[in-house]
Amino acid sequence: MAKEIRIALRNSGLINPESIQEYISADGYQALRKALRSEPIGIYEEIYDSGLRGRGGAGFPTGTKEKAAALICSNCEKFVVCNADEGEPGTFKDRIIMETDPHTLIEGMVIAAYSIGASRGFIYIRGEYELSIKRVQLAIEQAYQHGFLGENILGSNYNFDLEVRRGAGSYLCGEELTLIESIEGKRGYPRIKPPFPAEKGLWGAPTLINNVETLANFPQIILNGAKWYRTIGTEGSPGTKIFTISGDVNKPGYYEFPMGITLRELIFDVAGGIRNGKPFGAALLGGAAGTFASEKHLDVHMGYDKLKEVGLTLGSGAVIVMDATRDLNKIMLSILKFFKHESCGKCIPCRVGTSHLYQALNEALQQPHFSFESLYPNLIKQAEIMARTSLCPLGQSPILPLRSLWENLSESLIMK
Ligand SMILES: Cc1cc2nc3c(=O)[nH]c(=O)nc-3n(C[C@H](O)[C@H](O)[C@H](O)COP(=O)(O)O)c2cc1C
Ligand code: SF4
Repeated sequence: MAKEIRIALRNSGLINPESIQEYISADGYQALRKALRSEPIGIYEEIYDSGLRGRGGAGFPTGTKEKAAALICSNCEKFVVCNADEGEPGTFKDRIIMETDPHTLIEGMVIAAYSIGASRGFIYIRGEYELSIKRVQLAIEQAYQHGFLGENILGSNYNFDLEVRRGAGSYLCGEELTLIESIEGKRGYPRIKPPFPAEKGLWGAPTLINNVETLANFPQIILNGAKWYRTIGTEGSPGTKIFTISGDVNKPGYYEFPMGITLRELIFDVAGGIRNGKPFGAALLGGAAGTFASEKHLDVHMGYDKLKEVGLTLGSGAVIVMDATRDLNKIMLSILKFFKHESCGKCIPCRVGTSHLYQALNEALQQPHFSFESLYPNLIKQAEIMARTSLCPLGQSPILPLRSLWENLSESLIMK
């Protein structure tokens, strides 16, 4: 496709993911060689200058986190963790990277680890991702055999060990501090933030935690430089993004495009338009913890800042498309059911609040002539209180789909 540029998915479908030789032939591990010849400061400065922002959902500047983890102490134990839990509904990009090009992720992790001075790393993979786990494990073994992991990597005196940890099916375990608890072998309850992982992460040590797609951008940024990276995408959101498009479109799938592509281009050009020739209804951007876009947003540029200006979120890059015949109340109900199910129950506002939001909408939907005009403002008020008082970001999430649905699509809610 004309505008398609692949960075994280550069090798996807082009090389055999189980062959390290094919990865090496495609310039694989060249960025690591280059990184190991530089001082660590050169690496995190390059990532900082590239403007790369976290692809896990929050969009936090990656270089800032890296710099904090690098500078917090020298000669102390540090860790790098890759978040491959991929629990956000509608998101399936990290799986593709791990299944089709696992060495890109490993190379990105070793570069990140070297830049902050970490000696050990973990890839925390969603438990159901059997093929990802198999391919990443095989790639780790091959990387050890070829001297890209372990002691004295490529003769540099730098040592780094990497292993896989398997998630156990909790959405909340994708939240960084909960994930850290899980790797430590504890129950998946969140920790209070601050301290942030870069200060106090795994076993109390400084920890850099990044999403798979974020780390998969590292090798190309180091090889080609921050300036090159900034020529792609927009000023506020440089680079590319993998969008996972699902729902009522003709060609659902994963697509990597420069940031700044419009929602209209994604849905109608890339994903082939709405199925069965029906009109467009809505798109949920960023998964359950995301926001509802309506027809008026079709020409908004997909990037962190532009979406924020109109009250929307990019999140993980999930785009769940609904045609105009979909009952959006029922879709909202399934989102609230998801939050109710995934709430860990540690704090009252979220434990009680997620159940209450679900029950209130469910009961309303059982009645033949219900006034949604009075229901939604009440749900929003409750979700706002939850957002202010919940312990972790999960309890702060239901407000996002609820408010955006009501603000952008209230007419279709009332008419149904
Ligand atoms: C409830 C919840 C679930 C999350 N799930 C994921 C996930 O599955 N994968 C992910 O990369 N980030 C997830 N995050 C975001 C992480 O907390 C964190 O921001 C991310 O791993 C940081 O990496 P990045 O800066 O590279 O995006 C989740 C956050 C919350 C609050
Ligand atoms: S906000 Fe929800 S998920 Fe987070 S600690 Fe409280 S109950 Fe658990």
